[in-house]
Amino acid sequence: MLLHVPQVLSATQVQAIRQALQEAGEAVWADGRATAGAQAVQVKANQQLEPGSPLAVQLGEQVAHALQSHPMFASAALPNRMITPLFNRYTGGGTYGNHIDGAFQRDARAGGAGRIRSDVSTTVFLCDPDEYEGGELIVEDSYGAHEVKLQAGDAIVYPSTSLHRVEPVTRGARLAAFLWTQSLVREDARRAMLFELDMNILALRQQLGDTPQVVSLTGHYHNLLRMWAEL
Ligand code: NI
Repeated sequence: MLLHVPQVLSATQVQAIRQALQEAGEAVWADGRATAGAQAVQVKANQQLEPGSPLAVQLGEQVAHALQSHPMFASAALPNRMITPLFNRYTGGGTYGNHIDGAFQRDARAGGAGRIRSDVSTTVFLCDPDEYEGGELIVEDSYGAHEVKLQAGDAIVYPSTSLHRVEPVTRGARLAAFLWTQSLVREDARRAMLFELDMNILALRQQLGDTPQVVSLTGHYHNLLRMWAEL
């Protein structure tokens, strides 16, 4: 399931994060290849905030909090554990060729989530599409290749099992936060069914109130979750 989650961050929050990054200067940006695996290192050309650095942790916690309190993210990702979000920047032709993210990811923050299984990948855009040329996130699934370039503050959520890439940024800079989530429900198809069921129950409840049928469907949602969830 590839899901656009709108307005994870408000315009004010985006502005504050960007200002903090700008004030921190160029020195905080490290070569993104430092955190890439053997295959990814050959196709990765971007910059990242040093994972675990005070600035990365401080800004990352803001993004994590915003995501966790967004009902659509919570329903789609069913988060069990999340790493503290990281930040990257693509500029001057920067790109990240086709790859699949590693199955395990480590939280760089002391006392953080430790090692998690990456089930769900999330990118939160911090620049508007007209601020840079290129930089589309391309996610491939069985329906083909999907091109993603969202408004600042919006997020894309997709299965970590997907082949994906970031097209070269040929003008301006593309800033984003990104993270991995270990979901309560490992399989993407099951998460997609639960999300659709949850959204439909929500709409029915708004239309009809808590009729016996709505109560019964809500029970089914929870019983499926109980059947499929791993803690
Ligand atoms: Ni990736």
